[in-house]
Amino acid sequence: MRVLVTGGCGFIGSHLTEALVREGHEVRVLDNFFSGRRANLKAVARDVEVLRGDCADPRAAARAVKGVEVVYHEAAVPSVARSVDDPALSHRANSTATLTMLTAARDAGVRRFVYAGSSSVYGDTPKLPKREDMAPKPLSPYAIGKLTGEQYLRVFHQLYGLETLTLRYFNVFGPRQDPGSPYSGVISLFTTALLAGRTPVIYGDGRQSRDFTYVENVVRGNLLALRAPRAEGQACNVATGRRITLLQLLAELSRLVGARPKAEKRPARRGDIRHSLADIGAARRLLGYRPVVDFETGLRRTVEWYRTRS
Ligand code: UD1
Repeated sequence: MRVLVTGGCGFIGSHLTEALVREGHEVRVLDNFFSGRRANLKAVARDVEVLRGDCADPRAAARAVKGVEVVYHEAAVPSVARSVDDPALSHRANSTATLTMLTAARDAGVRRFVYAGSSSVYGDTPKLPKREDMAPKPLSPYAIGKLTGEQYLRVFHQLYGLETLTLRYFNVFGPRQDPGSPYSGVISLFTTALLAGRTPVIYGDGRQSRDFTYVENVVRGNLLALRAPRAEGQACNVATGRRITLLQLLAELSRLVGARPKAEKRPARRGDIRHSLADIGAARRLLGYRPVVDFETGLRRTVEWYRTRS
């Protein structure tokens, strides 16, 4: 199939692009290099067409979807905390860009549109695990952007028959996650701090928990989404169904790195969620999904990857 991956030079997008190439698909990537890097696609550079452009730019979007059957829209400016500091940037990169890509896909006759949704849309409601039929309660501009995106997908399915599908990712981690900003994912920050002998920072008491999901699981969900016949117009969680606190994460990482598990405590971040855990029943039913790499294995691989780079 001819497939477009937006954000294909980024963390999740590059893993997905590699997997699609391995499966024999013809892959094009659209990336504005805000956080993506060509080096992430090194292993498949000769097999992938890379376009430089912004998903919120209708001309770049139209060029990218031309002749494509399936769009994977992975491009985003992630980070809840960044969106609290800069809501307009988050809105453009997450809501406007998604609407622009959807419109371009509709106009070009794209068949299927798969979207990188987020667990943040559930907000801080006390009930766990999170199921797709629970009412969303976004707490940050990032969560609003991601929710807006998935609502547009649903409506584009109803109005125009585009086969849309949102995968709500839960705290994805793994090789190539960029640790270079204070907004980076916590596992990339903790791992690189411990490897460099620095003290990681914990915001809050460290007892908040997440369903940390190794990137290969998310790739698996996406590959299944390529064909899943009953999933159109839906949103489903892609996660592991298990939650780990930050203190547990720090202990496990310290053991793997061979460091003392200490952290500097700072006040909890605004917009932060206390606990996050997925029910993955819908992904099982709709996609045939089950996690392929557990948390411990994923963490070990991640530490090894950062170790070889430090
Ligand atoms: C959120 C979403 C996730 C989304 C991601 C995009 C939820 C539950 N999850 O992740 O689906 O993909 O945004 O960015 O909303 N922390 C520290 N020290 C640090 C960095 C972070 O203690 O140095 C804490 C944060 O305050 C938070 C936890 O670690 O409590 C995880 O933070 P982070 O990795 O940024 O992800 P979320 O905000 O949970």
